[in-house]
Amino acid sequence: MSSVIITISGTPGTGKTSVARILAKLMSCEVVAINKFVDEHKLSEGRDETGSKIVDVSKLRREIEKHLKNFKGCIIIEGHLAHFLRADFCVVLRCDPLVLEKRLKKKKWRKAKIRENVQAEILDVILAEALANKKIKCLLELDNTRLVPKKCAEKILRLIKKAKPHRENVQWLKKYENMMI
Ligand SMILES: Nc1ncnc2c1ncn2[C@@H]1O[C@H](COP(=O)(O)OP(=O)(O)O)[C@@H](O)[C@H]1O
Ligand SMILES: [Mg+2]
Repeated sequence: MSSVIITISGTPGTGKTSVARILAKLMSCEVVAINKFVDEHKLSEGRDETGSKIVDVSKLRREIEKHLKNFKGCIIIEGHLAHFLRADFCVVLRCDPLVLEKRLKKKKWRKAKIRENVQAEILDVILAEALANKKIKCLLELDNTRLVPKKCAEKILRLIKKAKPHRENVQWLKKYENMMI
C-alpha cells in the first residue's frame, strides 16, 4: 500500500489512544492524536458547558488535509472526531456501556460527562455518524470490551489486510435500555 489513512474513533474510553499506539508500531505508521493536533493548531473554540473543547470539524478537516499533502506512507489519526475525516479505513471502537462507565470513573470524569458518553455509546452515535460519512472507504466496527489493546490492534491489522467492511453484533440498547432514563 503506497499511502494509507486509518482513522480510529469511538466514544471516549473505548481505547482509541491505547490501540493506536500499538497499531502504529505494528504497521510502522505515524500517529496523529486529534486532541494534541487541535491544541497545536489552535483549533479549539472554547469549551462547552460540560468542559469539552469545541472544535470546528471543517477547520479540523482543512488542517488535516494540509498535514496529509504530499504525504506517502501510513498514518493513523485517532480521536473521537476522527470518523468525520476522509479515510481508507475508519475503525469505530465499541465498548460495553457498563465497562465504559467503569473506565471513565477510573479516569475521574464528572458524573454528567460519564452519563453523556455512556448514553452516546448505547445509542451508537459515533457509528451512525461514521456510516453517514461518504469519505470513508472501509468501515471497521470493533467491540473492544474484552480485548487487551494488543489483541485489538492485531485484529484491526487482520481486518485491514482483508480490506472488507466489518460490523459486529453490538446491541447495547436492547441490553441497557434502563440506562437511558
Ligand atoms: N482494551 C482495553 N481493555 C481494558 N482497558 C482498556 C483497554 N483499552 C483501554 N483501556 C483503558 O481504558 C482507559 C481509556 O483508554 P484510552 O486508550 O485512553 O481510550 P480513549 O483514547 O478512547 O479515550 C484507559 O485507562 C486504558 O488503560
Ligand atoms: Mg484518547
